[in-house]
Amino acid sequence: MPKKIDRREFLAAAGAAGVALAATSMATVQKPQTARRPSKGAKSAAGLVAPKLDRVRVGFIGVGARGSGHVGHMLNIEGVDVVAICDNYAPSAERAAKRVAEKTGKASATYTNGDRDYKRMLDRDDIDIVFISTPWDWHVPMAVDAMKAGKHAFLEVPAATTVEGCWELVDTAEVTQKHCMMMENVNYGREELMVLNMCRLGVFGELLHGEAAYIHDLRGQMHEVERGTGSWRTLEYAERNGNLYPTHGLGPVAQYMDINRGDRLDYMSSVSSPSRVREIYAKKNFPPDHKWNKLKFQCGDINTSIVKTVNGKTLMIQWDEQLPRPYTRHNLVQGTKGIWAGFPDRTVIEGKTKSTHEWTEGGELDALFSEYEHPLWKRVGEEAKRQGGHGGMDFVMMWRIIYCLRNGLPLDQDVYDAATWSVITPLSEWSVKNRGQSMDVPDFTRGKWKTMKPLGIVS
Ligand SMILES: NC(=O)c1ccc[n+]([C@@H]2O[C@H](COP(=O)([O-])OP(=O)(O)OC[C@H]3O[C@@H](n4cnc5c(N)ncnc54)[C@H](O)[C@@H]3O)[C@@H](O)[C@H]2O)c1
Repeated sequence: MPKKIDRREFLAAAGAAGVALAATSMATVQKPQTARRPSKGAKSAAGLVAPKLDRVRVGFIGVGARGSGHVGHMLNIEGVDVVAICDNYAPSAERAAKRVAEKTGKASATYTNGDRDYKRMLDRDDIDIVFISTPWDWHVPMAVDAMKAGKHAFLEVPAATTVEGCWELVDTAEVTQKHCMMMENVNYGREELMVLNMCRLGVFGELLHGEAAYIHDLRGQMHEVERGTGSWRTLEYAERNGNLYPTHGLGPVAQYMDINRGDRLDYMSSVSSPSRVREIYAKKNFPPDHKWNKLKFQCGDINTSIVKTVNGKTLMIQWDEQLPRPYTRHNLVQGTKGIWAGFPDRTVIEGKTKSTHEWTEGGELDALFSEYEHPLWKRVGEEAKRQGGHGGMDFVMMWRIIYCLRNGLPLDQDVYDAATWSVITPLSEWSVKNRGQSMDVPDFTRGKWKTMKPLGIVS
C-alpha cells in the first residue's frame, strides 16, 4: 500500500483539526534513490509487441470525471467490449453501466464493494485491458495488480508519484511482458502530432531546447468538497511542493526530442515560488471552519524545473494549477533552423516563413497544417472532433490504442515513458526542498534508450 494512502487514512482519522499539523509534519522529503537498478532477470519491455487481440475486452477502475469519458469513447470504437466497471462509489459505476447497456444492449458487471474490490474484477479471465482513472496514489498499485493478473494496464496521468512507484511499474511490465501505458492524451493533439511530424522531417533542424508546462487555473475544483477531483486533489497542494503534474506539457516535447529513444533525461533542478493563492481562495470562498481553511498549503503556486539531456539538449518545465492567468502548455521546441511555440500557435522557420524576427501565426499557419498534418490526424481527426474530449485528442488516443492492440503493434508510449515523464514530480520535490540542487533522472530503460528507434510517423 503506498505511503500516501496511509497518510490519507491518517488524516481522515486525525479529523479536520489535525489536518494542518499533520500536513506540515509530514512535509519531510527523503532524497530519492536515482541510480539505475538491475533488472529482475526479465526481458525489456522496450518495443513490446503483445499478441493481436481480435476484440478488445475492457474493464474500468474509476469512472469519475475522467474515467466516464473513457467509457464513452470505448462505446464508439469498433471491436471493443466493455465487460466490467469498478468504482468504490456505486452511483458512478451504475451510471457508467447504464450507459453501456443503453448503447450495446449488454450488461457490464459492476464492482463497488470498497477500495480493493477492483481485485475481484481483475480475477476475471474475460478482460484484456484495464483503464485506471483513480486518484494519483492508486495508479501504481492498481496497474501492478492488473499486469500481474494478466491484463494490459492503461493508466491516467501521472503514472506514479514516487521514484519507487516508477520502478515498480517498469519492473512489473518487464516481468509480465504486459503493456503499461500512461495515457498522455496531449501527445495526440492536432498541433502536437503535426509538430512531431515536422521534427521528424527536420523542419526545425537539430533540436536544442524545449519548453513544456501545465498552467491551468484549477482553483474552482476546490468546490468539489465531498466527491470529485477537488476532494482529493486539494490535499495534494497541502502535502507536497514541486511540479505535481508534469506530463501534459512534457509528453509531446519528450517525443519531439527522442527522449528514451536516442537521448534521455540526465539531470534536473527545480524551484518553487511561495504558496499563496489557494489560501486566499479558501478564505474568500469557504467559511472559517471549513476543512480547506484548516489546511496549510505548501505547494508553491508556480514551479519551474530545468533539465539537461545526455546529448546536451535543455528543457524548461513549468507547473501552476492556481494562479489567475490563461491556460498554457507552452509546447515549445527550438532547433537550429526554427522554432514552434504554442498558446497561441506560432512559428519561425528560417528560409520558409517571412522573417526570423517575426512570428508566423494565426491564419498564416494554414499552409503549414496542410503541408505537415500528421497522418493519424488526417485519418481520424474529423471523427475525433465530432466525438470531442479535449479538442479530439482523447478520441485519437483511444482509437490508436485499440488499433495497436488489434494489430499487434507496439504502443506509441511505453512504461519507460510513463516512468520518465512522471518522475519529474518526486525529483522536483526533493530539489525544491534542497535549494534547487540537481537530481539525476533515473535511466528506467536500463540502457535501451541508446538503441530504441525514435517514434515513427504512422501512415
Ligand atoms: N489526461 C487528462 O486530460 C486528465 C483529465 C482529468 C483527470 N485526469 C486524471 O484522471 C484521474 C482521475 O481524475 P478525475 O478527475 O476523474 O477524478 P474523480 O475524483 O472525478 O474520479 C476518480 C474516481 O475514482 C474512484 N475511486 C477512487 N478510489 C477508488 C478505488 N480504490 N477503487 C475504485 N474506484 C476508486 C472515485 O470514486 C471516482 O469516481 C487522475 O489521475 C487525473 O490526474 C487526466
